[in-house]
Amino acid sequence: MKLITCCSFKGGSGKTTALMGLCSALATSGKTVALFEADENRPLTRWKQNALKRDAWDPNCEVFVADEMPLLEAAYEDAESRKFDYALADTHGGSSELNNTIIASSNFLLVPTMLTPLDVDEALATYRYIIELLMGENLVIPTAILRQRVPVGRLTMSQTAVSEMLTALPLTEEPLHERDAFAAMKERGMLHLTIKKIDTDPSMRLGLRNLQAAMEELQQLCSFVCGALE
Ligand SMILES: Nc1ncnc2c1ncn2[C@@H]1O[C@H](COP(=O)(O)OP(=O)(O)O)[C@@H](O)[C@H]1O
Ligand SMILES: [Mg+2]
Repeated sequence: MKLITCCSFKGGSGKTTALMGLCSALATSGKTVALFEADENRPLTRWKQNALKRDAWDPNCEVFVADEMPLLEAAYEDAESRKFDYALADTHGGSSELNNTIIASSNFLLVPTMLTPLDVDEALATYRYIIELLMGENLVIPTAILRQRVPVGRLTMSQTAVSEMLTALPLTEEPLHERDAFAAMKERGMLHLTIKKIDTDPSMRLGLRNLQAAMEELQQLCSFVCGALE
């Protein structure tokens, strides 16, 4: 089982959304996914409830509440014994012993950030924190910054400047753009299943291209991460 973690000091940087999307991309390629919910606000539990109501939850994926050390340990052991292909950990903002443990146990770390100076400052602080933690523990874990909620159109001068700053750091190949399809996942459930359902829900047919564009971005992110894990 490979553990992929989204972490950032900053709340609202797009961690949970990136994780939901990655889960969907892994599930489309037939992988089983354990989701470790290390955020006491339980966004993934709510996601699953909404998805089940909409018939858009992949039964090859399971949420494990893991917002305390003993729960995390039990979740990890359970998921490993049930032979899940991947585990995705959603952390809360800030630093904590729980987050440190998850980071140090991961096989890949993603640090999502929006392109504002404040967000990028926080992403850089998170990145530095991760590197120091890993060095202290003598670990090498591939880590990449994920540009999240990037405008689909032209970037402003400030966004361009901030983007250029980030090129000095390891980045995922492509960003995730600001898309309604991503924002709606928490209500609608897994994106690939929402797309599948369109056949039976003509009201959404006009939005199909947007959903597919979002799904393609997730598949690119997924191949980038899985490629790095091989
Ligand atoms: N790529 C995106 N496009 C549109 N909305 C997004 C995108 N990523 C995140 N959001 C929205 O931004 C808000 C914060 O995202 P979230 O993933 O919950 O951040 P975090 O987990 O880091 O706190 C949510 O309302 C989410 O729907
Ligand atoms: Mg979150």
